[in-house]
Amino acid sequence: MSKSAELAQLIRARAGDAPPKLGLILGSGLGHIAETVEGVAIPYTDLPGFPQAGVSGHNPTLAIGDLEGVRVAVFGGRGHYYEHGNPAEMRCALEVLRDLGCTQLLLTNAAGSLRADIPPGGLMLLNDHINFAGINPLIGEPTDARFVPMTDAHDAGLRAQLKAAAKAEGIDLPEGVYCWFSGPSFETPAEIRAAKILGADAVGMSTVPEIILARFLGLRVAAVSIITNMGAGMADEQISHEQTKAMAPKGAAKFEQILRRMLKTG
Ligand code: HPA
Repeated sequence: MSKSAELAQLIRARAGDAPPKLGLILGSGLGHIAETVEGVAIPYTDLPGFPQAGVSGHNPTLAIGDLEGVRVAVFGGRGHYYEHGNPAEMRCALEVLRDLGCTQLLLTNAAGSLRADIPPGGLMLLNDHINFAGINPLIGEPTDARFVPMTDAHDAGLRAQLKAAAKAEGIDLPEGVYCWFSGPSFETPAEIRAAKILGADAVGMSTVPEIILARFLGLRVAAVSIITNMGAGMADEQISHEQTKAMAPKGAAKFEQILRRMLKTG
């Protein structure tokens, strides 16, 4: 049995057999949503192969149970490439999700905005991305399955559901292109100007490897950025992780409203 199948079996023994309808990976400031799931919470330390390090502001547990009456699997924290240099850090977790019978995934992250009309405290729905880090979690994958098409990577159906839920809640949810920088240092103002010229609307240090892995594993996927700051050099303030953690809850509350509405309306 594969490692992920073994873990899925262990998780089913604790959480029950019903497959989650939606998987969620929560970024900075959103970990508390995992605590509101009515079900079981399994710390990553009980799950070999799950990211064990983590970043302050994350909540490293897998919560499985009901949110607004829908069965979900919520990853309260993620591994980042910058923690260790492994872009496939989330592969095992996503394989487990697939092995639990889940087919849809929603990702969130904290990001810097490159657009004046998407200010800190706001949200952006990813409609595409640029892998500017140039690193790929499928490097070393031995089969032809590694040649994953990325044309429609950001699922149109999930995006439409998110847009409709945002509209119903009266929350602005502009769409845009997310550009992945490896981090952990923030970008320079010149890099932000370059990203703008390349067609990016926001920059961040996660999510892109997970989108690639999700498509590889056959999961439908969509992602939402919580805007915590303007890109480097665009505003007077100094960018910092403290600022990310301080600003994330504002956008996170809006995201939670959209998520709950989306789950309620099915
Ligand atoms: N750059 C990269 N990652 C981020 C930023 C940023 O400006 N803000 C929050 N995460």
